[in-house]
Amino acid sequence: MTLLHRIQQTTDFIHGRIHCDKPIAIILGTGLGGFVDEIDAKEEIPYTEIPHFPQSTVEGHDGKLIYGFLAGKEVLALKGRFHFYEGYSMQDVVYPIRVLAQLGVESLILSNASGGVNPAFKVGDIMLINDHINLFPSNPLIGPNDDSLGPRFPDMSEPYNKIFIHRMKAAAKSESIDIHVGVYVGVSGPCFETPAEYKYLRIIGADAVGMSTVPETIAAKHLGMNVAALSVITDLGIEGVVEKVSHEEVQKAARKAEPKMRAIVKSFLSEI
Ligand code: HPA
Repeated sequence: MTLLHRIQQTTDFIHGRIHCDKPIAIILGTGLGGFVDEIDAKEEIPYTEIPHFPQSTVEGHDGKLIYGFLAGKEVLALKGRFHFYEGYSMQDVVYPIRVLAQLGVESLILSNASGGVNPAFKVGDIMLINDHINLFPSNPLIGPNDDSLGPRFPDMSEPYNKIFIHRMKAAAKSESIDIHVGVYVGVSGPCFETPAEYKYLRIIGADAVGMSTVPETIAAKHLGMNVAALSVITDLGIEGVVEKVSHEEVQKAARKAEPKMRAIVKSFLSEI
């Protein structure tokens, strides 16, 4: 079965349960799943019920698709994402993005937990991503290109939509939340970085580092979507400040910062 055929079957199944019209999609990262409580949910579909959908394996990532309304806007939220370090192929990692496009999604909000490498950052801060560096050992677009999805050589001069960046900044300001704006480096994980690796990432231009988002942004841009992405800084990889980090701490810090994330996204949506 071709990729397009699979995407079509998944989309048909979801359309059988959900009638949506160009919803805005939100992908909820590590520790940020509680966000879905804010959504006036009309339908929830566990990933296990969705044909061809990969299944989450990581704690804190029990997967479901939620359709409903947030700040008066129609949203499709994905609680739980697929990481390369879980052993999924890049094609599986970005499969939900391709399904979202087929469902009519044109705007995508990504969220994640990340390690701060900019010395001005503190745990619990929020960073709006304005660019990224792909340090994954692969790219979701490697392989034969399906021209009906997007071009062979997609432009990446504006990976994160400038208007969205502007509006996210305004949303944070209106909520009196200070945010950083910076570059996210995507790495495979699953190890957190060594002190030398954090230092290297800072030197090459990183403000934050994490194990997601970049493949999804690449696939979304390939499909012609507009992307906004927010990172919660859950630990620090700053020279002299590199401390032991665990997945539990990352989850805890993300959960703690979640209300700020919710406030910004809700304000963003209300103005969009
Ligand atoms: N490194 C990589 N990924 C991460 C980190 C980190 O420090 N924190 C949360 N995700």
